[in-house]
Amino acid sequence: MSKSYKIAIIPGDGTGPEVTREATKILNVAADKYGFTLDMHEYDFGGDRFLRTGEVIPQSALEEMRKFNSILLGAIGHPDVKPGILEKGILLYLRFELDQYINLRPVILYPGVETPLKDKGPEDIDYVVVRENSGDLYTGTGGISMKGTPNEVAVQSSVYNRFQVDRCLRYAFQYARKRNKRKTLALCGKTNVLTYIYDLWERAFEEIGEKEFPDINREYYHVDATCMWMVKNPEWFDVIVTGNMFGDIITDLGAITQGGMGIAAGGNINPNGVSMFEPIGGSAPKYTGKNIINPLASVCASMMMLETLGEDQAAKTIEKAVKEVTANKLKGLGAGKMGYSTSEVGDIISEIVAS
Ligand code: IPM
Ligand code: MN
Repeated sequence: MSKSYKIAIIPGDGTGPEVTREATKILNVAADKYGFTLDMHEYDFGGDRFLRTGEVIPQSALEEMRKFNSILLGAIGHPDVKPGILEKGILLYLRFELDQYINLRPVILYPGVETPLKDKGPEDIDYVVVRENSGDLYTGTGGISMKGTPNEVAVQSSVYNRFQVDRCLRYAFQYARKRNKRKTLALCGKTNVLTYIYDLWERAFEEIGEKEFPDINREYYHVDATCMWMVKNPEWFDVIVTGNMFGDIITDLGAITQGGMGIAAGGNINPNGVSMFEPIGGSAPKYTGKNIINPLASVCASMMMLETLGEDQAAKTIEKAVKEVTANKLKGLGAGKMGYSTSEVGDIISEIVAS
């Protein structure tokens, strides 16, 4: 009997449904070719549902999510919904409830893609950021007092325990080992100022690295310097590991160096549970329904999903097809600038994958 995976599809808002349609089309072609099946169930979480029902994600749906092998997310964010509601209610909620404690964000420049980095090419921009995804400023620890008065106080704390740090570091070390490129893990922190949080990270990094991963080189960069080197010498990096907030920031920088939101993808990973893959760009409301948005980031997200499911060959075939398209077909990556429509790009990749 062929393998079958249960996949939850959350197309979400704006252009999310358009890009997700292309990704699932390609996923099905790859599944046919490599002899597995994808049993996809679609969920309508997003701004429209929220405006209609006042509900973001029903409790019962969360329980359903736990039974899937994986989740593919389109985009979250609606112009008529106050910022924060959907992001917290859907994206962060699923990340936390499903304990997707790793946010894996490859920064890879594909052939033919323009980078704003002068004199850099695909051989220079090829690394992965392992962003911790369960702690830090994202835990919502803190509060506001004396609100509305001149003495109002706001506190929001970065929170980490050793367990969270250890499991993230182990994942990153293992990733560097499996990737087998430069066998180097760089910790990105701020030990000169955040002398509690990144002291914890640094001690754990050294201890775990020395004891369990002597084959992996260890480097350390402050976060501000990391940004500088990501622009000036991206070829130095192999795998970067960092906390949630720094990881959020540096991966937008990484994304723009690899061609922007049209291509950047990420995975919210629970290595022992249900992971969720997403293009890291937003819902791009102004392009909605025009069939001009670039679906590649969603395609790359689905490729990461296959990799995590263990369908390596299918994932590799999709990656090869994406490279062929960026190298030889697309004029650009921006919406309306590809020289093809959203669905045409999906069709071209499907054909290459099938062949
Ligand atoms: C990301 C996004 C989210 C984050 C927002 C939308 C909550 O910026 O996935 O990087 O901050 O993690
Ligand atoms: Mn972000």
